Amino acid sequence: MPHKKLFIPGPTEVHPDVLAAMSTPMIGHRSSDYSELQKRVTEKVQKLAFTSNPILFSASSGSGLMEGAIRCSTSKRAIVFSVGTFGNRWYEIAQGNGVPADKHEAEWGHGITPDVVEKYLSTGTYDCATLTHGETSTGVMNHLEEMAPVFRKYPDIVWCVDAVSTFGGIKIDVDSLGIDIMVTSSQKCLGLPPGLSLATFSAKAEKRAQEVKNRGYYFDLLQLLQFIREKNFQYPSTMSESHMFALDLQMDRIAKEGVDNRFKRHEAMASAVQRWAKEKFALYPDEAYASRTVTCIKNTRGISVGDLNKELGKRFLTLSNGYGKLKEQTFRIAHMGDLQMSDINELLGAIDDILKLK
Ligand SMILES: Cc1ncc(COP(=O)(O)O)c(C=O)c1O
Repeated sequence: MPHKKLFIPGPTEVHPDVLAAMSTPMIGHRSSDYSELQKRVTEKVQKLAFTSNPILFSASSGSGLMEGAIRCSTSKRAIVFSVGTFGNRWYEIAQGNGVPADKHEAEWGHGITPDVVEKYLSTGTYDCATLTHGETSTGVMNHLEEMAPVFRKYPDIVWCVDAVSTFGGIKIDVDSLGIDIMVTSSQKCLGLPPGLSLATFSAKAEKRAQEVKNRGYYFDLLQLLQFIREKNFQYPSTMSESHMFALDLQMDRIAKEGVDNRFKRHEAMASAVQRWAKEKFALYPDEAYASRTVTCIKNTRGISVGDLNKELGKRFLTLSNGYGKLKEQTFRIAHMGDLQMSDINELLGAIDDILKLK
């Protein structure tokens, strides 16, 4: 099958060297070689997350660790701050697990403001709060730096952040922000195949999990931590070693690019796509909250997004239609992972050409 370059918000392009690392021969998952691998990858991820907290891995996509996070962090009640589909997922996960929770959903296209967070936390009703950093359905990115001072005022709250669509592309200073659990997936800004997720896990989150009786099994974050501590960086079940080999290499590639350069590249790609979107169409989200890893564009010209994608496909390129109820009303261009400015220029040029926008 000829490959279409992915401008969809995950999975993203995977470098051939990283794909090759996926085919490294397997090792014993209880061997010291495996322990060394997980320990090495942990140290590299800690640097990228600006944290000294342990890193939990899961051989699942990010939704799995989201499930573990809200379930293991709520002993009283959780408040879910949602700005779209993936924010709503936290709430659905809570409901599916019998975790008491409430949801505040912002008007789509808008971010969560610190006063809203303050309003809920000050009630004293909650001991866990979830927030989406980059919301892939609406292209909204919440401002973590504005939220951090509010969370700092409420030390009983375990703060869980969904950074699935941003970690590895946008700087998230986990420890300075005071994030207790930051969850991400492999297939977005990290530029790996889907199937692995990871989370940072604070001492506060650990203490809370100890108070929660029913933490589930596969996504019991305490059990993941226990295996790291007691079994020297191992995983309770059988890890996707292929992903760990690939992540090990990809973290070296990221270090070689330089994390600041990586963040700047994402920033430059976001600016270019948003400039183009405003000139040729319009941004769907409030510009002040426009995500720096995926741009959601309002279909002001009434084009058929499906037809556009078919034409792009002939040029071996693909973007995303709007998500769910936003299908055809919007379309999305992801600028994450290993994509370069030249790729973005290629895509925007192709759209201009197909739609005769020049
Ligand atoms: C913002 C956000 N959160 C959560 C998820 C779920 O992640 P996964 O598909 O890795 O389970 C996604 C997936 O697209 C996402 O974009």
